[in-house]
Amino acid sequence: LDTDGALVVGLLGCGVVGSGVADRLLHGFPVCSTPVRLAYVLVRDLSRPRSPTSVHSHLTTLVDQVLNDPKVDVIVECIGGLEPAARYVEAALRRGVPVISANKALIAERGERLEAVARQYRTTLKYEAAVGGAIPVLRMLRHLASADEILAVGGVINSTTNHVLSQMEDGLSMNEAVRAAQSVGYAEADPISDLDGIDAAQKLTILVALAFGTWLPWNSIARCGIRQVSVDDIAAARRLGTRVKLVASARREAGNIAATVGPTNVPLNHPFAAPRDAENAFLIATRHAGSIVIAGSGAGREATAAAIMGDLHDVLRSATLTSSKETIHA
Ligand SMILES: NC(=O)c1ccc[n+]([C@@H]2O[C@H](COP(=O)([O-])OP(=O)(O)OC[C@H]3O[C@@H](n4cnc5c(N)ncnc54)[C@H](OP(=O)(O)O)[C@@H]3O)[C@@H](O)[C@H]2O)c1
Repeated sequence: LDTDGALVVGLLGCGVVGSGVADRLLHGFPVCSTPVRLAYVLVRDLSRPRSPTSVHSHLTTLVDQVLNDPKVDVIVECIGGLEPAARYVEAALRRGVPVISANKALIAERGERLEAVARQYRTTLKYEAAVGGAIPVLRMLRHLASADEILAVGGVINSTTNHVLSQMEDGLSMNEAVRAAQSVGYAEADPISDLDGIDAAQKLTILVALAFGTWLPWNSIARCGIRQVSVDDIAAARRLGTRVKLVASARREAGNIAATVGPTNVPLNHPFAAPRDAENAFLIATRHAGSIVIAGSGAGREATAAAIMGDLHDVLRSATLTSSKETIHA
């Protein structure tokens, strides 16, 4: 912690998610009643307008300045993509600095390796924001996996496709619905990853890792996106008393893990039929506690920043516990 007892944060990225985190940190959002100081915000382009405007005095394009400052207590990675995010995250972990990431592509691809590096350097890697936005599904999975046996996990876990399918139910064509999702910031300029089910498969890899302790390569998951879903399919589903949803699911089967992502006709009374627009829903089936459903806001600036603030809280709590243990044993 800083000399004034503040937790010092180095933030990588100030786009949709990073700006939400910066907003909270710059507006005095305390974590476990500890003040938090935003030291640096790494971006590519210093001249871009930013919100909040007060973030400008923290901006830098020099990654070494952020990663090598010994005052930085925690790195929050909101850059996205595989590289250079992977390099930056690993460098921080190798310095023993805890890292919080919102990056599902990175965690799905390198999570196993990065967790091993974190263990080796006695630090932490946290990524609640990578799956389910504000819904604390990874936290819940960790808890259930330690207390029970998880039989299956799945959900409606991609906000863009859910938004598109909801808009198609309201009469828009696929193209119009994609443009609508882009205009509200849920779909990226190039929505391939969402429409082809890649984003859902990457998130499913992370869910599987926590549920079953196995890092399944995301590109080995049987996957079909929503490009082939037509307005006629949506109307036919409605006549059958169902709704078309992109469902990702995984279960243990005869010692293996069966995992799939694909458009599914979901009965209206099933929990996966309910989420609209950017909402997500998850179902976790356990051997002893039965099925648990959790749902809520799955994407966007505020929802994702909320998950990151929760991870910051955990990092601070574990640092406080470690230092109080060291005081007790001194
Ligand atoms: N958007 C969501 O609702 C959401 C929800 C959950 C998780 N996520 C995840 O959160 C991460 C960030 O998503 P986002 O939507 O916030 O992305 P974004 O809006 O594109 O923002 C990316 C930020 O990272 C900076 N950046 C990118 N590459 C960089 C580099 N090489 N060096 C320095 N800065 C770099 C960009 O700088 P400039 O501003 O200068 O270009 C920008 O500020 C992704 O992993 C995404 O999957 C997003």
